[in-house]
Amino acid sequence: MKIVIIIPTYNEVENIGRLIEALETASRRFSHHETQLLVVDDNSPDGTGKLVEKLTKKFPSLTLLSGEKQGLGQAYLRGMDFAVDKLGADIIVEIDADFQHDPLALPAFIERIDAGYDFVIGSRYIKGGSIPNNWSALRKLLSKIGNLLVRIGLLTFGVHDWTSGYRAVKTWVYQRTRTQLTGFNGYTFQVAFLHQVLRSGAKVVEIPIQFGERKYGKSKIGGEYVKNLLIYLIKTRIHETATPRFLKFLVVGTIGFVINTVVLEVLVRLGIRPSISGGIGGELAIISNFTFNNIWTFKEKKITSIRQIPGKFIIFNLASFGSVIIQTITIEIGTRIFGVPTYRIFYVLGVGIGLIWNYFMYNRVVWQTHKKTKIS
Ligand code: GDD
Ligand code: MN
Repeated sequence: MKIVIIIPTYNEVENIGRLIEALETASRRFSHHETQLLVVDDNSPDGTGKLVEKLTKKFPSLTLLSGEKQGLGQAYLRGMDFAVDKLGADIIVEIDADFQHDPLALPAFIERIDAGYDFVIGSRYIKGGSIPNNWSALRKLLSKIGNLLVRIGLLTFGVHDWTSGYRAVKTWVYQRTRTQLTGFNGYTFQVAFLHQVLRSGAKVVEIPIQFGERKYGKSKIGGEYVKNLLIYLIKTRIHETATPRFLKFLVVGTIGFVINTVVLEVLVRLGIRPSISGGIGGELAIISNFTFNNIWTFKEKKITSIRQIPGKFIIFNLASFGSVIIQTITIEIGTRIFGVPTYRIFYVLGVGIGLIWNYFMYNRVVWQTHKKTKIS
């Protein structure tokens, strides 16, 4: 497979030459893949781009992509698009240019990719990982708080290092998340990317890294990062919490209930046996529920393909039947303990539990809004 290692640079003239050499050496450890280096430089005033341009003559596998400075996220998006469209990358690696990410750790990332993982995170905050010892207590704390905030903000606790910029990614994962990433210009890109990846069904794994000290040049991270990250977290929280999905589900269910009742009453008056009338009403309600949930409640996950609909509809029926069973069992247990006259209480309780069951099954099984990702 083809690996493209993307190195974003802004004023890294003291680092970039050494890093290219080190990556060339490290990539010999996974020579069963073809490796290319792509430096994405934003017209660094210190001449990083010019140096890389020169180095492309020495290293045939090295490419320079220059552009306007628009932030780290934009540099990565530009680089990843180029890596995929122009270089034919199957695997993309993210790495900083300043040796805070040890190039010698790279083979361990590729090993995980070879083992079938789609997204490998170099993590400072799992066992075996670290941040520099000589960082002040405050800096260490801020770094940890940052990650904790993300985990709480996104209510996703499987990943320990959200902001890490040392990663290996299969191209399909990038392509699947690409449309959601436009607009993440700065460092928030790393968080947004991983957030989308976790929803994509990719197999994600963290491996420990020792995050080093920057030897040459300066960090480009600024206060705007904290601000943008907070905005991202707050927006996500509002969006995910305020989604009135459950309310829509209840409205749809109520319509279904009305259809069920009306059909039952009308058919009985037309002389059809109540059991059959109830069955017809029930199935019409299920068709209504399936249709409205599909086009409204779960519209982001709408099933449109004609070939998928019959199968999904059967699964929907089976899932909904689960709530009928729950209702029956609840009434049975309740009336056995408290006597038959209490049946209405247990009917309501059964309907309530059945609703939760349906909502859960529709989310997890029928429309799969939470496609679960395994994090190792
Ligand atoms: N092309 C380009 N454009 N490159 C940039 C830009 C930009 O606007 N801003 C930063 N870079 C490059 C740097 O030259 C370096 O290679 C890499 O991105 C990381 O930048 P640093 O300035 O060294 O970041 P840091 O060490 O302070 O930040 C670390 O923590 C972040 C959050 O935890 C890095 O590990 C980041 O990758 C990480 O996201
Ligand atoms: Mn750095």
